[in-house]
Amino acid sequence: MSTIEERLTEYYARLRARNLGPLWNSIGSIMTKEPKPHAVPYLWKWDEVAAFAMESGELVTPERGGERRVVFFSNPGCAHLEPSGWGSLTDTLYAGIQLLKPGEKAPSHRHNQSAIRFIVQGQGAYTIVEGERVYMEEGDFLITPAGLWHDHVHDGSEPMLWFDCLDIPMLYKLGAMFFEHYPEFNQPVTRPDNYSTLRYSAAGLRPIQDRHDHYAPQAVFKWRATKAALDNLSTLDADPFDAYAVEYVNPATGQAAGNTIGAMMQKLPSGHHTNAHRHVHSAIYHVFRGEGYSVIDGVKFEWKQGDTFCIPNWAWHEHVSTGAEDAFLFSTNDLPVMEALHLERAEAHPVGQQEVTGTFTA
Ligand SMILES: [Fe+2]
Ligand SMILES: [Fe+2]
Repeated sequence: MSTIEERLTEYYARLRARNLGPLWNSIGSIMTKEPKPHAVPYLWKWDEVAAFAMESGELVTPERGGERRVVFFSNPGCAHLEPSGWGSLTDTLYAGIQLLKPGEKAPSHRHNQSAIRFIVQGQGAYTIVEGERVYMEEGDFLITPAGLWHDHVHDGSEPMLWFDCLDIPMLYKLGAMFFEHYPEFNQPVTRPDNYSTLRYSAAGLRPIQDRHDHYAPQAVFKWRATKAALDNLSTLDADPFDAYAVEYVNPATGQAAGNTIGAMMQKLPSGHHTNAHRHVHSAIYHVFRGEGYSVIDGVKFEWKQGDTFCIPNWAWHEHVSTGAEDAFLFSTNDLPVMEALHLERAEAHPVGQQEVTGTFTA
């Protein structure tokens, strides 16, 4: 007569052989007590990433085959998850630095991944989104909503670099990807230049045609307006965790401009030190201006202009601006999806700020 242990060993082997599994052995791993993302806190220095992006300009073109010339961020905690983990910066979000050189064009395509762009360097290039030509300048935030044709053209004289964020890992896990090329290399421009900016030129005013939930009507949010909003906001009381921050929203609905991808710009006045909190949603930060550090789960991540770092789900974090100038941090997140699924929660650090136990090195 075999023991229970012997019977279980043999039973598990037969389960595995029939592609079945015992929940009682797995429940602690697949239903953790709190979020356990694959992504780990990490930071990439701008000098290194920009050098790789510029080098790619000597090696590949953004034409058919290359499609888009982007060096993407690969979180070391996700990179082993093939293929969705290759381009995962957090468990749900992809991000990279795209290069478009003067005279280049990138072909028109559409996909049901949503995309947002933040312009890091250069001017003179434009993107065409569903027939609208949108010029891109440093500090501008743009959206490319899921399902809309989009392509890029550079008529300027210096290389342009921008930060892209898409919901690629999220859609991969949902098994919901579609991707399609436009029949021509570039789509025709069918609307007046900066059409959406003309329609939405003042906050709080919505063209009457958009009162029934117009789909992502504002293609670009100019840096000058964002900066002015933050400068006004920063004459008032600071948020304990984000100092002075504004979200980019769809002006017709008040929902996230990037649909599944949230985005915000925050100002940390020189010397400002926020309190720590944590939340279910994950975030990716791109330092637009200034220098300082963030403490993530007790580890100090020192940053300056152009650097990119991530805050995985449920990681404690606080931000400190140490430069003589104010810091401006652009960030993207998966908050809209967490909220839509009723999964979001947040909590303040019990003693306000964290004890620093180490400093990050790549
Ligand atoms: Fe695209
Ligand atoms: Fe946060």
